[in-house]
Amino acid sequence: MIQKCLFPVAGYGTRFLPATKSSPKEMLPVVNKPLIEYAVEEAVDAGLTRVGFVTGRGKRAIEDHFDINYELEDQIRGTGKEDLIHPTRELIGACEFSYTRQKEMKGLGNAVLTGETLIGDEPFAVVLADDLCITDGEGVLMQMVKLFRQFRCSIVAVEEVSDDHIHQYGVVAGELVKDGIYRVTDMVEKPTRDQAPSNLGIIGRYILTPNIFDVLRDTLPGKNGELQITDALKAQAQEGCVLAYRFKGRRFDCGSIDGFVEATNHCYEKFYKAGS
Ligand code: G1P
Repeated sequence: MIQKCLFPVAGYGTRFLPATKSSPKEMLPVVNKPLIEYAVEEAVDAGLTRVGFVTGRGKRAIEDHFDINYELEDQIRGTGKEDLIHPTRELIGACEFSYTRQKEMKGLGNAVLTGETLIGDEPFAVVLADDLCITDGEGVLMQMVKLFRQFRCSIVAVEEVSDDHIHQYGVVAGELVKDGIYRVTDMVEKPTRDQAPSNLGIIGRYILTPNIFDVLRDTLPGKNGELQITDALKAQAQEGCVLAYRFKGRRFDCGSIDGFVEATNHCYEKFYKAGS
């Protein structure tokens, strides 16, 4: 039912300079796999195999990563190293990729609106690859797709955020529907501690109904003069229904150095060391 997943990847990743000077931040490896590959894997596990990237300048490495490299495959054939590239090759085979380019950095809302051409008139997911989500069971997107089947409205994934960090998030207020599911009543993009309507911060996983594009077109620039998806979702919540979902699993803020190092240590123990 939901087939498409949009990945806004045009951002500069300035917090990781100089590493991101000429390489996309989404290609930073957590152990031996780029952040964007974890994200695409999560989408494919949820059945979302039509993958759209909203890219920008300097992001060519992402396109190359999700393309077959015959020369490399030829080089490593018979060396035992094929296994290292096999999962990526499978992922490439499972997906259909499309790309469009964001002309100016005008906010996440603008990135999503730029992706309309890849999505059309159907519900879709949005994943911010620098939020790395690791679960023991179903991935976060799969959890959300199941919820969408039940409620058929836009859904944002949330987690509890400390007062010190709340200003970095879109923050929701909502009424509890049932365990971990809230009907959103208010949303504020990057509030001060005093403005925050709760301690539930949005993380980079969204399911959006397609009328979000019309809502975005009617939304004025918000925080930092940028078009905010949070503001459009607030309008959607006021007209109909938007859910906030406290996902099961652990999320790492790989947009920050601390979160990135934590994710690296976690994945090293969980996937690499355990498998070696
Ligand atoms: C974006 C959204 C914000 C959300 C966050 C999750 O902000 O605007 O609402 O909480 O992603 O990572 P960014 O971190 O891109 O500034």
